[in-house]
Amino acid sequence: MSRSGSGRIVVAAGGGVAALKTPFLLRRLREAGYEVRAAASERALRFTTETALAVAAGGPVGTEARWFAPEGGALHLELARWADLMVVAPATAAGLARAAAGLAEDLITATVLAGARRVLWAPAMNPEMWHHPATQANVERLRAWGHAFVGPEHGALAAVGEGEGLGRMSEPETIVEHVRHHLTPKDLEGYTVLVTAGPTREYFDPVRFISNPSSGKMGYAAAEAARDRGARVVLVSGPTHLPDPWGVEVVRVERAQEMYEAMLTRFDEADAVVMAAAVADWRPTETAPEKTPKQAGVNTVELVPTPDILAELGRRKKTGQVLVGFAMETQQGRERARAKLDKKRLDLIALNFPTRAQSAFGSEFNEVELIDPSGHVEVTGLRSKRDVADRILDRIHDLLARKEAERNAQ
Ligand code: CTP
Repeated sequence: MSRSGSGRIVVAAGGGVAALKTPFLLRRLREAGYEVRAAASERALRFTTETALAVAAGGPVGTEARWFAPEGGALHLELARWADLMVVAPATAAGLARAAAGLAEDLITATVLAGARRVLWAPAMNPEMWHHPATQANVERLRAWGHAFVGPEHGALAAVGEGEGLGRMSEPETIVEHVRHHLTPKDLEGYTVLVTAGPTREYFDPVRFISNPSSGKMGYAAAEAARDRGARVVLVSGPTHLPDPWGVEVVRVERAQEMYEAMLTRFDEADAVVMAAAVADWRPTETAPEKTPKQAGVNTVELVPTPDILAELGRRKKTGQVLVGFAMETQQGRERARAKLDKKRLDLIALNFPTRAQSAFGSEFNEVELIDPSGHVEVTGLRSKRDVADRILDRIHDLLARKEAERNAQ
């Protein structure tokens, strides 16, 4: 089952310069799989055009000029009933104030008031306006009614000479992430999921290390997917170029030993562990305190094994906890993965194929075989890492439910 976007989104542009980005948001939402309809306030059309919005939305734009149809339809009612989620991007200070006061004077606030099921505001304004107690009180009021917010963010402001500040509308990609979050069923609510990601670095002097090309994308996708499904998520990450996912507690580590300690201290809180990190199996016996000068001839580095984190978690696993590991194999994949599953006392293992071009290190895609202790194999096929993560979380969800039922029966 894919959890790629599904749902109906009304994107409403308010009257700010950030409305320039609204067509990009519509496009990104459609690319993510959502059905969209665009609406714009009269003022928004000073900053973007109806044509740009219509092309991006792939359909007509709801404007105030066409608010009431000659045959008697009212657009605010139709949009409010159609949408699973209404995204106001950009949301202006005035728009927030009208919504908080229940003033249905324009198409956007009328749609909000007409009962749009859920509303996500993406504010964009001058930082003073954002920080003003009036705006903050309006935001609080809307939040109390269950409305959600994304941004504003800190960065360069649109008006010339205004420099930087907290007032930029979040980028379309970030807004899409929040949309996904709001529309994902919260089937992991109440659970804590501990995820590892990325490589580890085993230093033999302060600037040189043994590592591997893991990008961390698989583990980050798992952390984000678990967050969107309502879990509390702790992500223990080796060095990556990826930004910290919002709404996730991120613990950055470098060495396998640090990852081991970080995991062990948090394991008791975890209902499930997704061990996606590519932990280096070896570390140099010694780390020289200074950079080692170049020497002529053959040089050797003595290596010792790093602690096997997952095996240790398997030893400490308590009834009810779910452990998922990964196996990266270039040959005899299923047998070797199965052996690791047994040895480390796992509930599930995801077998990867690092030498297949499309699912190699760093790819946006992955293809895994999910093997359980009964030997059953589920082949995911090539999918986005997010979809693979969701499939693993579906299995974790079922395992947690089963373990809970077993415990209740005891
Ligand atoms: N793993 C771990 N600690 C290590 C090495 C691996 O926790 N020191 C975890 C990985 O995160 C992965 C699983 O164990 O979830 C299997 O990793 P893999 O490298 O494929 O297996 P190894 O047990 O290291 O065996 P080998 O390298 O011999 O294939």
